[in-house]
Amino acid sequence: MRASPKNSPPNLRGEFHRYIALLLLALLMANLDACRRAPPSLVVDSSIVAYDIEQDPNDPQRSIPLHYEQAEGKRIFYDKCIWCHADASPAGPSNRSNLIPQPPSLSDGNVLNSLSDGFIRNIVTLGGSALGKSPMMPPWGNTLNEKEIHAVIAYVRAVAQPPYQAPGRSSSDYGVK
Ligand code: HEC
Repeated sequence: MRASPKNSPPNLRGEFHRYIALLLLALLMANLDACRRAPPSLVVDSSIVAYDIEQDPNDPQRSIPLHYEQAEGKRIFYDKCIWCHADASPAGPSNRSNLIPQPPSLSDGNVLNSLSDGFIRNIVTLGGSALGKSPMMPPWGNTLNEKEIHAVIAYVRAVAQPPYQAPGRSSSDYGVK
């Protein structure tokens, strides 16, 4: 006798039922998912895509977008430098007002913009006394690596008020003296 679907062995029929049940379950899940409220779509303004931002020290309404290296520098600044180089620290009032000579705020473009990248790198690496400045400026050469010091400089340049302008080509490097 030939096996009709009705007479198919019970184990095959069981398999078929399990298959149907799974299919129904999958359809049910898919429907449930569709019923869920769609999440609010994220509006990204491509002009302000940044790793981090910093508040403009002179204008609380304005924030300065930071690219990756500047954002890394911000992290280091808040960890190591803010205690002496800002008007307020995460722990409250800043130490800056207690120090003589008073360290400049690192966003003070009037002071920092006149310093070259090389000078800042050296004073941060070697400390104040190595450059004839106050020994209260600690040397960071054993704590921060070159990349991190570079990042701090990038951050300082980004937040400077008035804004920092990179110097033009130095005539002593390429031009006729
Ligand atoms: C313990 C306090 C202290 C900490 C922390 C500190 N500094 Fe200083 N820093 C000073 C003092 C004091 C001076 C001023 C030296 C002088 O004018 O003789 C100074 C000067 C400087 C200057 C030179 C400014 C100028 O006018 O020539 C730079 C740049 C600087 N610090 C960067 C940093 C950076 C970057 C960090 C963090 C990695 C840092 N400092 C952490 C105390 C500190």
